Amino acid sequence: MIYPGNLKSKLPNTEQSIFAIMSKLAAEHQAINLSQGFPDFDISGELVERVHYYMKAGFNQYAPMPGTDRLRQAISTKVLKDHGITYDPDSEINITAGATQALYTAISAFVRDEDEVIIFEPAYDAYAPAVRVNGGNVKFVQMDLPDYTINWSHVAKLMTNRTKMIIINTPHNPTGTLINEEDMTQLERITNNSDIVILSDEVYEHLIFDGLQHQSVCRFPELARRSLVVGSFGKTFHATGWKMGYVLAPENLMKEFRKVHQWVVFAVNTPIQMAIADLLQDDKNYRNLPAFFQQKRDFFLGLIKNSRFRPVPCKGTYFQCLDYSAVSDESDLDFARRLTIDHKIASIPLSPFYMNSRDDKILRFCFAKKDETLVQAAEILCKI
Ligand SMILES: Cc1ncc(COP(=O)(O)O)c(C=O)c1O
Repeated sequence: MIYPGNLKSKLPNTEQSIFAIMSKLAAEHQAINLSQGFPDFDISGELVERVHYYMKAGFNQYAPMPGTDRLRQAISTKVLKDHGITYDPDSEINITAGATQALYTAISAFVRDEDEVIIFEPAYDAYAPAVRVNGGNVKFVQMDLPDYTINWSHVAKLMTNRTKMIIINTPHNPTGTLINEEDMTQLERITNNSDIVILSDEVYEHLIFDGLQHQSVCRFPELARRSLVVGSFGKTFHATGWKMGYVLAPENLMKEFRKVHQWVVFAVNTPIQMAIADLLQDDKNYRNLPAFFQQKRDFFLGLIKNSRFRPVPCKGTYFQCLDYSAVSDESDLDFARRLTIDHKIASIPLSPFYMNSRDDKILRFCFAKKDETLVQAAEILCKI
């Protein structure tokens, strides 16, 4: 017998991700899929051409374990330009198979049995299972509506001598909110004189609107020395299927990160790393992202302004949350299912992002779509 009869799951309460569920339902019912976060438009032709070029030029074998020199150097230069901070390409930058692997590896590298990790809800669903599979316990802090703000004195009260890590996410999926300078100062204050590691998920770093600025944790020196910053080229270059990400961290943290990284994946896709390094040389390849996605957000909001859905303010990411309480009192799971099956439009309900399935009657819609997709989606929403 291969499996003992009393096999005990390490993640007994983990179900299939809501993203997989809603995307499958959308495909089954030929619904417009504004659920999972990925663009339906083409990626840069130049990027595709550069990947071809490097494949044909023989860059098809293992990359160095931390990533190619050229990509790490290009990231270092970019971070200096964006934030005025220097990360050493050799010892403080690592390329990963998407942000997901970066997050998992960081959690594995630092969280031990019975360690506590603070996570803010609604929370991107990759964090808590990674903590639990590594033996840690999660302490959830719900952000305060209507603007999804963080009550830092509440966070401070939850901290114990077992608190090993705090995971933040800005711009925030699913709500589209941002952590501001004052939040970072508060985080710095409450973690001062502790060994707490900050894991900062910044995959939507370039998707920020209305002239607001991304407050990367790396801009705050006291926080930066205890932080791992996670980025994703899947988001920046509209290529989520390529699963290419990176981590920035001071050398002592990066050393531990790499000890695990080498056994999780060792190295990631060589020709794509080379191609991305080329595109990072010129910031025209990403500096228009805020304007590009702000236009999409505003276009979508304009189209649905006469509907009965009420927008929740979206300052960043490519997700627009809509309150449907004027339309239905169904649970968000039921309503999202019915929208997909009966009305042919798929979204993501927010309750699965809460440990206690809190239901504020809000659905998340991805607006990283062609204008014609958004027009079709809005026509449906306006009729409901
Ligand atoms: C907040 C957040 N973190 C991490 C990821 C994962 O990024 P990647 O596709 O690079 O693994 C996503 C993807 O949707 C995300 O929204």
